[in-house]
Amino acid sequence: MPTARTCRPPILRFIDLRLLLLPAALLLAWGQVLAANPSRRPERARQGMVVSAQPLASKVGVEILKRGGNAVDAAIATGFALAVVYPAAGNLGGGGFMTVSLAPPGQDFTLDFRETAPGLAHREMYLDASGEVIKNLSTSSHLASGVPGTVAGLHRAWQQWGSLPWPELLQPAVELAQTGFPVSEVLARSLRSAEAALSRHPETRRLFLAGGNFLKEGDILQQPELAASLRRIAESGPGGFYRGRTAQLIVDEMRRGNGLISLDDLAGYLPKQREPVRGEYRGLEVISMGPPSSGGVLLVQMLNMLEQYSPGAPGFGSAEELHLKAELMKLAFADRAAYFGDPDFGVLPVPLLVSRDYARMRADGIRAHTAAVDVRPGPVTNLGMESEETTHYSVMDRDGTAVAVTTTLNGSYGSGVTVTGAGFLLNNEMDDFTVREGTPNMFGLVQSRLNLVEAGKRPLSAMTPTIVRRAGRPFLVLGSPGGPAIINTVFQVLVNVVDHQMPLQQAVDAPRIHHQWFPDELAYEQGSLTPDVEKSLAAKGHLLRERSRIGEAQCILFDETTGWIWGAADPRGEGAASGY
Ligand code: DON
Repeated sequence: MPTARTCRPPILRFIDLRLLLLPAALLLAWGQVLAANPSRRPERARQGMVVSAQPLASKVGVEILKRGGNAVDAAIATGFALAVVYPAAGNLGGGGFMTVSLAPPGQDFTLDFRETAPGLAHREMYLDASGEVIKNLSTSSHLASGVPGTVAGLHRAWQQWGSLPWPELLQPAVELAQTGFPVSEVLARSLRSAEAALSRHPETRRLFLAGGNFLKEGDILQQPELAASLRRIAESGPGGFYRGRTAQLIVDEMRRGNGLISLDDLAGYLPKQREPVRGEYRGLEVISMGPPSSGGVLLVQMLNMLEQYSPGAPGFGSAEELHLKAELMKLAFADRAAYFGDPDFGVLPVPLLVSRDYARMRADGIRAHTAAVDVRPGPVTNLGMESEETTHYSVMDRDGTAVAVTTTLNGSYGSGVTVTGAGFLLNNEMDDFTVREGTPNMFGLVQSRLNLVEAGKRPLSAMTPTIVRRAGRPFLVLGSPGGPAIINTVFQVLVNVVDHQMPLQQAVDAPRIHHQWFPDELAYEQGSLTPDVEKSLAAKGHLLRERSRIGEAQCILFDETTGWIWGAADPRGEGAASGY
């Protein structure tokens, strides 16, 4: 709950503390993070840019731009290529969200192709007879999968905004799957570290662990079954996935493992165009994804609260700045735990949560010297309420159309179940539901009744594909994987550019923190805090937790004064920016 009002405006609560900044110490801390993840050279180009988590997929996207495709075409081709070259998260068997800002400026859209709970799903499906959660059922079984949305979503985007013929957008992915591509060091390492999860299912083991021999860097990974699945989609659009042979293969796989997805579930899947979440931050327009993702709303909430402070103060990396951001994150994530679910299954207080008045009221409780210990969701009950791995890619074309897509199987390699004969992994997105009230999901998130499993419902997400516009023209395209840390990653990159005036690559490279309200701990990237900052945060009451990395942002910035489009891939992964 908000605490008593203070007469001092928020900036003054921090002013003397800013004097304590130690720029040299900050540089040292930053240096440590960069040593672990050497920075990339940012890519700059005049005509167009694609940034994704895998260099081959970025290249596919930029080739589509060169052929005259627009940013939506390039995003679709990149998405299908990721399904081949980035099996941990790129997918046919998952879902996601797309934010689009079309040229000419002024029109923007968000597309929801999140998975849905199968028709036979119900709220007790992951509980035993005594009401206890059955371990691994919502994460690593055939019951873990929602009805996939990616193919329908990408096709809907093409129908509405694409320009090149549909089969052309799939052709590069078909070729990569059919002829194969060299396994990168990162992929080889990722597959090896996922051995336990990938070994459980025989077809997954055969395809992704080479039957137990492990793929090595430089091995050629050919995926003929996946190529055939992609060809069916190229020929028949969504009908080549949600009906016919692929649909039958999915249902056969479900039968073998007691899963629930039926032919009717597949035939009935529909992506949904949703009203974007909009905010304004220091004169810039922020457009992002609304429910069933919590990402856009929480992002705007945090920006609204931060806007009450002077830009860039307290200084980047200081204990005061990290403390302030952690407190904002806590407040926003407390609301996430109470007020979010599928908007088609309940009334969500989105207009209130993104309002400036609400942000002012919430931020009023933030104290400079103390971490709040009793943060609760904001008072919105008067509205009648009852209540690793993901991947992001960003595209911009020469006309100024921008596309931000975040897509996922949820966990790394999803449920670990491959559709036998179809060559692709299925998601474990059902774990994003509230499988039992009060029980945290795989990301440690506790969520509300609004997010309980129901047939046809979409599980709550944190994915935050975001476009920031200046004077009507896309200025930033942002997004990241990271479960709940997605929202905080997008928030920090945006604030690094806008408030701390960092060039894009620096804004992406910079160390990050993450707080999600519950558990009450402040995560920071390995080696990114100086001993002084660490001591100061602990003294304020933060329980610190080191993490090897937080998020993996793939971002674009358009500099209107020079006309350059800048692409920045995150050095925390193997991503690449490709421009021309
Ligand atoms: O939709 C969500 O919020 C989660 N399924 C995202 C999972 C994720 O980002 C895992 N990756 N790193």
